[in-house]
Amino acid sequence: MKYLYIANWKMNLSFNQSIDFCTKNKNALQQLAQTADIVLCPSFIALAPIINMFKDTPITIGAQNCSEYATGTYTGEISALSLTEIGITYCIIGHSERRVYYHETTENLIKKIYLSYAANIIPIICIGESHHDFLNKKTFTVLAQQLEPIVLAIAEQQYHNKHIIIAYEPVWAIGTGIIPEQKQLITIFGWLAELMHQYLPDYTVQLVYGGSVNQNNITELKTIFHIIGCLIGNASTDF
Ligand code: PGA
Repeated sequence: MKYLYIANWKMNLSFNQSIDFCTKNKNALQQLAQTADIVLCPSFIALAPIINMFKDTPITIGAQNCSEYATGTYTGEISALSLTEIGITYCIIGHSERRVYYHETTENLIKKIYLSYAANIIPIICIGESHHDFLNKKTFTVLAQQLEPIVLAIAEQQYHNKHIIIAYEPVWAIGTGIIPEQKQLITIFGWLAELMHQYLPDYTVQLVYGGSVNQNNITELKTIFHIIGCLIGNASTDF
């Protein structure tokens, strides 16, 4: 499997800026895609034109979120079905910004994951502890609280051979320029790999790191055995 780069543009790039980025960097992205898997996650309205721009390339497109409902009277929401209809391959679910600013709960996330799988979309599930929990040495407790109900709910569905991406993104590392120590990441990712194997043994599991990934720390991150890719926010808006 190639190294996986997931670009989460959040609301940092406007519609025009997203299209400009893709126009300007199309060739460079395709070149990079020879040695790495690339997933671009622009905002909802830029998804369709960007899918179109990359339709004959190995570059795939992901959404930053989807509705927890399949269909119905939910003004302003976008369903997983609509995403798959326009050609979306991945969907980020449970980013800490969604959990904090939009109060998304584990229950909400599980519904989104079910709908993503029903629409053949690969979920990129984000987990991560707050700075307070990190300082109080509660990282593993929080990660288990976030992840176990999700993987249990998925296991109960008895899907087989599905693909799942887990992004460990410590909240205190997002947008701060600080990343955890290498030793810590080795322990966390080793634990994550074991947990995923225990709950979802026949799944294709990809574990990625996110939080202040940039050109200075990527080389070190790439040396950590279980980390097979990165979810990149800010730095991904500058090719
Ligand atoms: P950052 O964001 O790279 O800007 O820290 C990562 C993320 O929130 O996914």
